[in-house]
Amino acid sequence: MYQAPRQPAYRYRTASRPNRALLYKTKRTAALIILVTLVVGVLLFAFFEHYNKDTASPASGSKTKQNATSQQPAQSQPAGFNKTAHSTTENSSLWVVVNKKHQLSPKDYKPDNLVVPNIPLRSNITSTEKYVRADMGKALESLVKDASNQGVHLNLQSGYRSYSFQVTLYNGYVAQQGQASADRQSARPGYSEHQTGLAADLGGTTQPSCNVAQCFSDTVEGKWLAANAYKYGFIIRYTTTDESVTGYEYEPWHVRYVGTDLSTEMHNQGVETLEEFFDIAGGTSY
Ligand code: DAL
Ligand code: ZN
Repeated sequence: MYQAPRQPAYRYRTASRPNRALLYKTKRTAALIILVTLVVGVLLFAFFEHYNKDTASPASGSKTKQNATSQQPAQSQPAGFNKTAHSTTENSSLWVVVNKKHQLSPKDYKPDNLVVPNIPLRSNITSTEKYVRADMGKALESLVKDASNQGVHLNLQSGYRSYSFQVTLYNGYVAQQGQASADRQSARPGYSEHQTGLAADLGGTTQPSCNVAQCFSDTVEGKWLAANAYKYGFIIRYTTTDESVTGYEYEPWHVRYVGTDLSTEMHNQGVETLEEFFDIAGGTSY
């Protein structure tokens, strides 16, 4: 019987040989492409990492780097001071601005966290004025302690003043000097920073006659206070040249607590008044 010859095994093998070679070549090409892609990717990553380091750090040094920084968009600049971190209108805010254009509301507002700070007090201080707000009290204690360690002895002349206390005080000024003069020295009731518990009149021991007087600026205590208050979060609120802005004559003894962020920023910028720093209305008229 006729039997069809079996196909020799080699025919199967020799027929598929070109396909396997093609497959091998394709695999090799794909591997090569993946390898090249990986190498290029790594190189690009390394380049951008290096580039970012050079341009993102403004504190990193050389003039060339600073120039490079100044040409970058805003994202590589350090964040500016945030002027909205605290309210300037809330009675209890560290940054509340109280002046002749901005009355406390309600006018007889009283802070709820008043304490007597652990510092020397004026001998005849009233039971109201020896209080200050608790957070400002801590800063005041640090300031007075550090001054004392440097041989400068400060005391509290007047801290918190209630609405009714300010009525009596202001009326006393008016009776003695007339309203125009009183208004340059004393706030009308409801318009005093002392009512927030964040203001303090500080005095010294070397020249008691200069306490709560402009010659306080010439005393060792007044000079120390002018040079160092900002380090503890305070500003000298009523300055020599700013009566038209603040509404009051120079008071080198009156410090206002605003916290170290703001006091340091104002010091660094050379801005003396809260009205100018926050662009808020003030002035000499109510
Ligand atoms: N002497 C300041 C202005 C006050 O009365 O609050
Ligand atoms: Zn004062």
